[in-house]
Amino acid sequence: MSTIYDLSDKVAIVTGARRGMGEADALALAKAGAKVVVADISIEDCEKVVEEIKKQKGEAIAVKCDVTKKADVEKMVQAAVEKWGKLDILVNNAGVAEFKPFLELTEEEWDKTIDVNLKGYFLCSQAAAKEMIKQKSGVIVNIASIAMGQVGVGFPSFIHYCASKGGIAAMTEAMALDLAPYNIRVNAIAPGVIDTPMVDSMKNDKATMDRLMARIPMKRMGKVEEIANPVVFLASDASSYMTGSIIVIDGGWLSG
Ligand SMILES: NC(=O)c1ccc[n+]([C@@H]2O[C@H](COP(=O)([O-])OP(=O)(O)OC[C@H]3O[C@@H](n4cnc5c(N)ncnc54)[C@H](O)[C@@H]3O)[C@@H](O)[C@H]2O)c1
Repeated sequence: MSTIYDLSDKVAIVTGARRGMGEADALALAKAGAKVVVADISIEDCEKVVEEIKKQKGEAIAVKCDVTKKADVEKMVQAAVEKWGKLDILVNNAGVAEFKPFLELTEEEWDKTIDVNLKGYFLCSQAAAKEMIKQKSGVIVNIASIAMGQVGVGFPSFIHYCASKGGIAAMTEAMALDLAPYNIRVNAIAPGVIDTPMVDSMKNDKATMDRLMARIPMKRMGKVEEIANPVVFLASDASSYMTGSIIVIDGGWLSG
């Protein structure tokens, strides 16, 4: 049965899709009917996700792509077009997160985080938009974070990460304006704490977990599917009048 969330005949790219939220996004988009490019820095891990999608009767290909490298990004978009003739959906998800006190943060650490989390989103969005413009339709979903600033919550020792996510929030609104004339919608999701390999080190630290749970009204971390389903919503016609919006999904953190 076809629903408004149906993505049959749509072609999607998910970056950082070898594991964590990106993997869940790729699986959910495929389940909704999309053909998916599973992109990340490790092709072997991407192949495993592709196998999983194929087991569920979906279509997918694995592409090795470092989102900080323009040539890699262009090849990734080209891979989608060569395989399926077009590109409809881009999920910018690839990211890195390392805690480091402000006064100890090195220039290299700053550059790495900004390169992956911010420049990577720019490069992928621009390459994807140039393809989407040809068909005058498309959707870009940016994964930001409640660490994006302007929401009443600060994160110590996370300056570089917060700056990158704040940049994504601002970029989402600005890109939505530049791309609206081409019928390309650009929205973001700002997750709270989601149970992925990115937060593994926190999970083993009881004091940190106790502090976190004290902030989260729902008293648990989010599951990857709880981000992936809203990604499908933003990728589908169910959100056809939404652009430049940022959806917070945080178990109530910002309301607490
Ligand atoms: N887990 C959380 O609590 C949380 C909260 C808010 C936002 N986020 C954001 O969600 C996104 C997904 O994170 P996750 O929690 O699934 O973490 P994760 O570490 O499991 O996944 C991140 C993925 O990005 C990939 N990646 C890193 N550098 C890359 C590069 N240069 N090119 C291509 N891929 C690269 C990694 O290989 C990895 O597969 C990130 O943007 C992260 O900042 C995570």
